[in-house]
Parts: sequence; structure tokens; C-alpha cells
Amino acid sequence: MSRGKLFLRDAQRKLDVSYVPTTLPHRENQIDTIVACFEPLLESLPMGFHPPLLYGPTGTGKTSCMKKAGEKIESEVREKLSLHYVHLNCAVLGRSYLVAQKMAERVTSIPARGYGEAELLTKTYEELEARDEYMVLVLDDVDELIRRDSGHLLFAITRLEEAAELEANRILPVLIMKKAKTLMIAQPAARSKVTGPKIEFPPYDYGEMRSIVRQRVRLAFRRDAVSAPAANQISFNGARLGSGDARYSIGLLQMSGVAAERGNSKKVRVEHVRMAQQTYDDRIPRQIGDLTDADGFLVLLAVAKFFKHHRDSFAASRTIITASYRKLATASQSPVLSGSQLRKKLAELEENGLLYRSGRGLALPYMSAESLYERLLPLTSGQFQ
Ligand SMILES: Nc1ncnc2c1ncn2[C@@H]1O[C@H](COP(=O)(O)OP(=O)(O)O)[C@@H](O)[C@H]1O
Ligand SMILES: [Mg+2]
Repeated sequence: MSRGKLFLRDAQRKLDVSYVPTTLPHRENQIDTIVACFEPLLESLPMGFHPPLLYGPTGTGKTSCMKKAGEKIESEVREKLSLHYVHLNCAVLGRSYLVAQKMAERVTSIPARGYGEAELLTKTYEELEARDEYMVLVLDDVDELIRRDSGHLLFAITRLEEAAELEANRILPVLIMKKAKTLMIAQPAARSKVTGPKIEFPPYDYGEMRSIVRQRVRLAFRRDAVSAPAANQISFNGARLGSGDARYSIGLLQMSGVAAERGNSKKVRVEHVRMAQQTYDDRIPRQIGDLTDADGFLVLLAVAKFFKHHRDSFAASRTIITASYRKLATASQSPVLSGSQLRKKLAELEENGLLYRSGRGLALPYMSAESLYERLLPLTSGQFQ
């Protein structure tokens, strides 16, 4: 990433998906619930641990919250017992054998190769037992693995402990998946092991996304390098175009910074976000021409013109749009729409995804106002002859 005047020195790290910020806004409950699952560890005999399940779509903070909860759990139990935090991405590892191998690697000195999955698990277990240690085993992105092995790995891990008839659990699994119902694919014997809370991670809405984006702005950008409306536009796009995925917003924030630096701007403004959006994730309605008529083009042109001249405006009120439209329409040869006709037209543009409502205003999230203006001119020029 460029290191111009806008980004802070370690922005790259702070904008990376693997970076976990000190606080995770709007996820306090989820983190507390995870931590509470591990309370039994603080008792003298860690009985009664109930494996929780974290679920929700991409970018809703599942991995980050688990890591944050892991830090808290480790610091809470540090005095009392020895705990290994093992966080494995099962989608990346792909096979349960490789998961077992990673588990063994962390606590045993047995060679990585030459052992079967069951042996690796047994060995892991025995060493934990011998040294009186515990393992928090996070099986992240486990959907595909469950689909493939019907939950066999989970079953194997828990059965190991039951077979040993131990009073305490040594391996404490946490499952993370996109859809809670994936668990239904698992064999009942494995499914029944997930006895802890099912913790939901819903997509972030615009308001929640704003806190997340503002936090990232403070972490990765110089003071005042990102305008408040630009941060709002990024949050809006993450919530609406990116389905509430925080990763989407953070990526767009970075791209917007790059677009602003490329334009030699002292500040990231809304128009940079719109420009970045076009390349970051192109959502321009392909058939603008089919989605509205001559009146619609003129209304849209009025909106584009307003945003083109107000490069840091994120939403335009109806009053502003009406004024901009009336000016254009009077200069053109087309009949001027009445107030109620204009309202109808705006509603239609919104329905067809050409404009987006934000609060009481209308926003243009998917492309630069400048580009839209250029694109509409040929479609409307007839009206200006
Ligand atoms: N509540 C939050 N506050 C701050 N950053 C967040 C929050 N939720 C997610 N993020 C950030 O969004 C990105 C994706 O989060 P992640 O935990 O990987 O989501 P998931 O595992 O659900 O796909 C990470 O960079 C993470 O730091
Ligand atoms: Mg994740």
C-alpha cells in the first residue's frame, strides 16, 4: 500500500483482516457469552464445559471475537492452569487429518508424518493429560469439513475423552460456521456434542458499521484525513452493497484512501469512495438505459450534477434534488415534472437500484458522480437542443 500523506505508517497492518482491534464495537455480548462458556475452567475441576457454536455470514466478526475472547480466557485462567489456544481454519486445512496434525504439533513433539488421525488425537490427548494442560480448540470455518466428514472429527475428539472416563475435559472445542443449520448435516452423535450456546453474528447495519469504520479510520489514517461524510458513505456501502460485511467496508476504506492519494487530495472525500467502489466491487446497474426513461435520465442527471459539484456530500435531500432538477428541466425542452411526478420518479429510480435512500436523503453509492454525469449526458443531450 502507498504511504503518502493520508495513511499512517502501520496502516497496512491495521487494515488487514487478521488485525484484531482492542475493542470490537457491537460485539460485547457475543464476546461475553463465549468467555462465560469457559467459566467452569476456573473451578477446581473443569467439568461441565459446553462447546459453543458461533455462526453468521462472512465479515460479521466471528473470528475476531473468538480471538478476543481467547485472550480474555487466557488471562483469566493464567494463574490457575496451563491453556493452549489453538485456532484452526478448517476451510484452509481442508481435511480432518490436517486438523489433527496441527493440534498434535502444538502440544506434542511427535513427527508430523507417519501417524494416523486417531493416533494423533490420542497422543495430543495423552500429553495434555500427562502435563495437566488444556486446549481451547477453535474449529473455524468448519462448514465444509462437516459437510465432508459428517462431523466425524468432532465426534472423535469428544469420544476420546469419554472413553478415558475422565472427570475433566482436556480439549475444549468451539465451532465457527456460516450457517447454524450446517450442524444438522453432522451425524447425530457428533451434533449432540455441541451443547453450548449458539451465538449469532448478524450482518452489521449502517449504524453499527459506522462505529467500525470510524474506529478503523482512527487506527489507520492521519487526523482529519477521512471526511465524516466519506466514512458514512463507506459504512453505507458496506451495509447495503456488502451485505453487512465489515471486511467489505474496511477494504473499501483502504481503496478510497488509495483513490484520494492518487488524486493528490489532502482528504478522502465521498467522491473518492464512489470512485473506489467502482473498481473495488462494481455494482453499476448494467442497463441504466433500460431502467428508466427520458424523465428519469434527467432526474438522475440532476442528482449526478449535484454530487459532482458537492464532492463530499453523501446524501442529498429531496429539496436539493428538486431544485437541481428544476434548473436542468427548464433549460431542456422537456416538460417539467410536477412535485408529485418527481416524487414518483425518484421512488422508481430507487426501486430500480439507481438511487439509494439514506435517512431522509438519497445517495449514489455505486459509482462516481462525475462518471455517471458523463454517462448520462449523451442520453439526455437531445433534450437540451
Ligand atoms: N465489531 C467489529 N469491530 C471492529 N472490527 C470488526 C468488527 N467485526 C469485524 N471486524 C473486522 O472485520 C474483518 C472481518 O472480521 P472477521 O472476524 O474475520 O469476520 P468473520 O470471521 O465473521 O468472517 C476483520 O478485519 C475484523 O477486524
Ligand atoms: Mg472468520
